[in-house]
Amino acid sequence: MISVRDLKLAYGKRVLFDEVNLNFTKGNCYGVIGANGAGKSTFLKILSGEIEPNKGNVSITPGERMAVLKQNQFEFDNETVLNTVLMGHKKMWDVMQKRDAIYANPDASEEDYMEASHLEAEYGEMGGYESESDAASFLSGLGIRDEMHQMLMKDIPSNMKVRVLLAQALFGNPDILLLDEPTNGLDIETISWLENFLAEYENVVLVVSHDRHFLDAVCTHVADVDSQR
Ligand SMILES: Nc1ncnc2c1ncn2[C@@H]1O[C@H](COP(=O)(O)OP(=O)(O)OP(=O)(O)O)[C@@H](O)[C@H]1O
Ligand SMILES: [Mg+2]
Repeated sequence: MISVRDLKLAYGKRVLFDEVNLNFTKGNCYGVIGANGAGKSTFLKILSGEIEPNKGNVSITPGERMAVLKQNQFEFDNETVLNTVLMGHKKMWDVMQKRDAIYANPDASEEDYMEASHLEAEYGEMGGYESESDAASFLSGLGIRDEMHQMLMKDIPSNMKVRVLLAQALFGNPDILLLDEPTNGLDIETISWLENFLAEYENVVLVVSHDRHFLDAVCTHVADVDSQR
C-alpha cells in the first residue's frame, strides 16, 4: 500500500495540491487524469520521492518495492537492452553485481567467497535464476526481437527504447507500479498487450494517461487531479 497524508505542493503562488489524503491499496489500478499542466506527473514524482512536497508525507508498506517508468530515454544508453530490464529490480541487480565482482576478483579471500555464497542465496530467493528468461519474455511480449536483447540501448530506435523502459518498470513483479503516460510511442498491439498485463496485475498500479479507453480497460478507479485543488 502507498499512503499520502496531508500533501501540499505549490510552485510559487500556484498550488498544485493541498490537503491531499489518499490510500492506494493492493489489487487496484488507479488512473490519474487531469488537464495538461494540472500536476499529474508531479504527483507521481512526489510518490516516487523524486520531488519533495512542501508539506505532508508519502509512506509505503515496509518491504514493498516500487517501480517507476523512467522518462529519460538516454539514461541507459551504454547498457544492453536485457540488462536495462534487469536493472528495474535494483536490489536484485546490485546483489548480482556484488557477487560477480567477487567471482571476477583473482585476489578474493575466503571471506569474500563466504560473502558471495550469501549473495548467491539472496539472489536465488529474489528469483534471480529466472530473471533473464523473465526479462526476455517481457521484451518479447512488447515486440522486441531476441536479436535486440544484447544490443546497446543507444543503438536501438526510439520507439523500441520506450518499450524497453516499460519492460524495466514491469519486471520483477513490483508491489507498487507508477506509470506516467505508458502508451506514448506504443503501437496498438503493444497497447493491447499492456492493457491485458495491467488488467491482470495484482499489486498497486498508478497510471497517468490521456487515453480514456486505456484507463477504462485497466483501472478500477480513476481520479481527477484537478479536483484535488
Ligand atoms: N520545477 C518546477 N517549477 C515550477 N513549476 C513547475 C515545475 N515543474 C512543473 N511545474 C509546473 O507545475 C504544473 C504541473 O506540471 P506537471 O508536469 O505535473 O503536469 P501534468 O499534469 O503532468 O501535465 P501534462 O498532461 O502536460 O503531462 C505545470 O504548470 C508546470 O508548468
Ligand atoms: Mg505529465
